[in-house]
Amino acid sequence: MLDKDSKIYIAGHRGMVGSAVKRKLEQEGCNNLIYKSSSELDLRNQQGVQEFFNQEQPEVVIDAAARVGGIMANKEYPWQFLYENLEIQNNIIAASHQQDVEKLIFLGSSCIYPKHADQPMGEESLLTGSLEPTNQWYAIAKIAGVKMVDALRRQYDRDYVSLMPTNLYGPNDNFDLKTSHVLPAMIRKFHEAKGDGDSPVQLWGTGSPRREFLHVDDVADAVFFVLNSEMEHDLYNVGTGKDISIKGLALLVQRIVGHKGDIRWDHSKPNGTPRKLMNVSRMTKAGWTYNIKLEDGIKATYEWFLENLDEIKKVEIES
Ligand SMILES: NC(=O)c1ccc[n+]([C@@H]2O[C@H](COP(=O)([O-])OP(=O)(O)OC[C@H]3O[C@@H](n4cnc5c(N)ncnc54)[C@H](OP(=O)(O)O)[C@@H]3O)[C@@H](O)[C@H]2O)c1
Repeated sequence: MLDKDSKIYIAGHRGMVGSAVKRKLEQEGCNNLIYKSSSELDLRNQQGVQEFFNQEQPEVVIDAAARVGGIMANKEYPWQFLYENLEIQNNIIAASHQQDVEKLIFLGSSCIYPKHADQPMGEESLLTGSLEPTNQWYAIAKIAGVKMVDALRRQYDRDYVSLMPTNLYGPNDNFDLKTSHVLPAMIRKFHEAKGDGDSPVQLWGTGSPRREFLHVDDVADAVFFVLNSEMEHDLYNVGTGKDISIKGLALLVQRIVGHKGDIRWDHSKPNGTPRKLMNVSRMTKAGWTYNIKLEDGIKATYEWFLENLDEIKKVEIES
């Protein structure tokens, strides 16, 4: 069991995942959390990270820091997505090992699996085929992180675990229409169209691809579960194991937002992979399943969006 007094370092605590982990650990009464923003500690700086670990001596480390972005960002900045993510995770994982950190959780994403992996994608499909070319840079860095964790478990018996969440949504998501993922983009589009006299909403493709979505608070719950468990494997998928068509998702978001206008599907835009679903049986067998139903999670996220609208717009102007 996790000692609530353990010194826990959350890397990336201001991000969507890190902030959810921070909320969860605080709720659970963990009272010795440490964190630094990227301006206080640049995790690409090996010496800085080593000094921080030397000084703070964390007992538990959650690595939710990464350079994250959509397809366009990956296309434009392959070097940064590959090298910066390698730097960040190398520094954190190596410093954790050197400082005898007892437990470490490394977060990655489902993009580590091959483009044409059998659906639902199990952990055993890792490195069985080519990656999706657009985000291969990011994926290769994350695969290296998974293998570092695996190597430290095998060679030094470290209690370190990699968690690969599916598509996430929730508070602190990115609602910038140029760079956001499908679900926050839909929330924003339907909300703005509702305010514009229920004008039509245009969405990409045909709506037929199927995708899986998990509320970020459920990832935080999975992190807490793993902190309290001895895990048999090095790598676990974290998802719902259920998918929904993009059309189904659009109708759900439309209903929750209260938009009454038309939805227009732009068939000239690409659909992407027909289906992307995680096999979550490894995590289920370990004793964890998700809690937040998609409809409830989208309602809560829309409420958060409305409460934080000014902040969301400010971030976009700055970026
Ligand atoms: N969002 C998703 O849908 C999703 C899905 C599956 C997996 N994941 C995984 O979850 C992890 C976190 O993703 P996220 O969505 O929470 O990302 P995010 O919101 O962009 O947050 C990333 C965090 O990393 C920190 N960071 C980035 N570069 C840094 C640097 N050089 N030094 C120090 N800190 C740095 C940032 O710190 P500052 O804010 O202080 O700058 C930020 O808080 C990633 O590994 C990602 O693969 C995300």
